[in-house]
Amino acid sequence: MSKLQMEGSEWREGVAYARGQFVDPGAAVIPIEDRAHQFGDGIYEVIRVFEGRPLLLDDHMERYEISARAIKLPLDRSLDELRQLVVDAVARSQLKDAQVYVQLSRGLARREHAFPAVPSHLSLTVRPLNDADFYRVREHGNRVMFTEDVRWRYCYIKSLNLLPNVMAKQAALDAGYDDAVFVRDGYVTECSSSNIAIVKDGVFYTHPATERVLHGVTRRFALAYLKDAGIPVKEEAFTPDDLLHADEVFTLNTIAEFSPVVEVEGRKVGVRIAQSDSVLRRLQAAYQTLVKGL
Ligand code: PDD
Repeated sequence: MSKLQMEGSEWREGVAYARGQFVDPGAAVIPIEDRAHQFGDGIYEVIRVFEGRPLLLDDHMERYEISARAIKLPLDRSLDELRQLVVDAVARSQLKDAQVYVQLSRGLARREHAFPAVPSHLSLTVRPLNDADFYRVREHGNRVMFTEDVRWRYCYIKSLNLLPNVMAKQAALDAGYDDAVFVRDGYVTECSSSNIAIVKDGVFYTHPATERVLHGVTRRFALAYLKDAGIPVKEEAFTPDDLLHADEVFTLNTIAEFSPVVEVEGRKVGVRIAQSDSVLRRLQAAYQTLVKGL
C-alpha cells in the first residue's frame, strides 16, 4: 500500500476504516474515482467522543439517515451495524477524547454524472481531539463577522459540499475574525460549522429547523434542556440587528459545544454571557452533566 506524502505523526494517530476494513490512517486506499472525491457526492457526520464513548450517537445516526435519504443515497449497512462500527472503531483507537468522522459516498465508479450502479462507500476516521483549544473558546468566546449565505437551498442535508462554508470561514480568518455568521434574506441562519442562538429578555431564539440550516444535534440537545428547565424558546429567525442587541449570543456544535460570541465586526455583543446564571452557562453545565452520565 503506498503512503501519501503526509509528514509527521499527526496523520498516523487514531484509526481509519475504508473499503470494508480498518486501514492505516496515512495510507492511500481510496481510488481516485470516488464520487465523494470528484462530485462531493455524499454525506457525513461528526461525532464527539468523551472518555472513549460517543456522545448522542443515536441523534447522529438519525440525521445520517435523513441526509442519505434526501440525496437518494442507499445506506451500505443498517444503522445498527454502523453504530456498532463506530463503537468498535473508537475502542480500537484507544482514544478517550476524540472525534469520529463518518462519510458515505455514492461509491467508486468512473466519472459520469448519473448515479452509478455500485454500492455506496463508507469511510470513517477516529482522530484525537485536544479539548483545551475548545475550552479556551468556550470560556473566552469568538469574534465573528456577517457574510451572505450563498449556499444552496438544502442546508439541512449534511452533504460533503462545504465549499461556501470553507470560503466563509477563511474569509473570516483573513479579516481577523474567528468565524462567519451567514445571513440570508436579512436573517441570520447559522455559522460556517455551527448553529447560532441568541437570548433576549430571557427568551432563547434560534433559526427554525427548516431547509435553510443544519438540524444540529447540539441544537436539539439545547431545545430539550431548555424545555425541561422552563426557559422560553422561540424557534424564529432573527436579524443581524437582533444579534447585535442580544443579551447573549452563542454557537452550538458537536466539537466546540456551546461557545459565546463576544464581538461582531468590532462591536461587543452578548455581554450577559459571563454571568453565572446566563442561559449559555446553564447549557454548558447541562452538557457536562450529560457527558459525565455517559
Ligand atoms: N458541523 N451547522 C453547520 C453548517 C455545521 O457544519 C454544523 C456541524 C452544525 C452543528 O451541528 P451539530 O450540533 O450536529 O454538530 C450546524 C460539524 C461539527 C463539522 O462539519 O465539522
